[in-house]
Amino acid sequence: MENKIINLGIFGFGCVGQGLYEVLNRTKGINARIKKICIKDPNKARPIDSSYFTTDKNEILEDPTIDVVVELINETDAAFEIVSTALRNGKAVVSASKRMIAENMASLYQLQSENRVPFLYEASSCASIPIIRNLEEYYDNDLLNAVEGICNGSTNYILTKIFEENLSFETALQQAQDLGFAETDPTLDIEGFDPKFKIVILLLHAFGTFVKPEEVFNFGIHHLNDFDIEFAKSRNCTIKLIGHCRRNNGNVHAFVLPHLVKEHNLLYDVYNEYNGILLESAFTDKQFFVGKGAGGTATGSAVLSDISALLYNYRYEYKKIKQNNQPAFSNDVKLKVYLRYKSPDQVDLTEFFNISEKYESSTYRYVVGTINLQKLKDAQWLKNKDVNLLVLE
Ligand code: HSE
Repeated sequence: MENKIINLGIFGFGCVGQGLYEVLNRTKGINARIKKICIKDPNKARPIDSSYFTTDKNEILEDPTIDVVVELINETDAAFEIVSTALRNGKAVVSASKRMIAENMASLYQLQSENRVPFLYEASSCASIPIIRNLEEYYDNDLLNAVEGICNGSTNYILTKIFEENLSFETALQQAQDLGFAETDPTLDIEGFDPKFKIVILLLHAFGTFVKPEEVFNFGIHHLNDFDIEFAKSRNCTIKLIGHCRRNNGNVHAFVLPHLVKEHNLLYDVYNEYNGILLESAFTDKQFFVGKGAGGTATGSAVLSDISALLYNYRYEYKKIKQNNQPAFSNDVKLKVYLRYKSPDQVDLTEFFNISEKYESSTYRYVVGTINLQKLKDAQWLKNKDVNLLVLE
């Protein structure tokens, strides 16, 4: 696509679509222009000229002059339909839809190789942090041991406001929604589903292993209460929602769980909607990437970077898949956790390997102990709002 102007067909004109529009307008050096934007509601007031818009997806998908389809919509099934049709029609695709990508990873991989067209999705994982491209290009060997970090801007914003400004959970969540960080359904953020989709994508690019989102355990910050916050502060810790995947004896495990984080941890100082990703590899030890993980222009800039990469025919090579020595996915790993509850019948402490600390009062109880990740994934008792879990470093 060198030396030509790329015609873009965009699906969706919400927070990220408008962010992309702004970033594109302010970036002089890129040979790309928006030809059409497909939206759902033609009656909604839009900040740009109505001639851009259509409600007919085929005006983009069937237009031979459109080179790149940019998919930025909310609905997972519709997004997959658009992306797969575009790839079948030979169009390069850029997407930011983490859920759609994580849930359809294997099919999307196959569609790319069958149709020999690029599909880029840097914005899907940590918005402005170029983590997928780094995993693909720089860490294209098998020396990577772990990828972990904060990959949800909304929950990091909420936790920052709670710990730094004593705001209530509800007020902080409302702010994250007003600022355009949260998902349309914010339970995806606060229950840890959104960061799980991102971890599933990163795991593929880091280790070459396809994992279905339902295989990965996620528990968010939706049960957090003042008692937990005081517990964290009493140990000179903050709380961060961390997505984690680590290679271990030929296997790889992954999860998204709230963690007690001490000041020496690089993730401690990742505030507000910023994300932070720590990579650990055999010879370089730890490397740290940080940047805005949510918001229209931050995410739009990653989308634009993908569009720009298409100009020099960039595509993911999925080298880790092709190396053919992928670790198998497993939830068999021990975690040291704090488990808070109200009454003993709400939890099953026999699931623990050992308990090193026990606390009881008239209001709350907690234990600190070691438990297998698979046991946590299967535990029905964690659904009780009176029960909360934090991983200890
Ligand atoms: N809701 C997401 C977040 C948006 O808060 O991180 C960016 O993926």
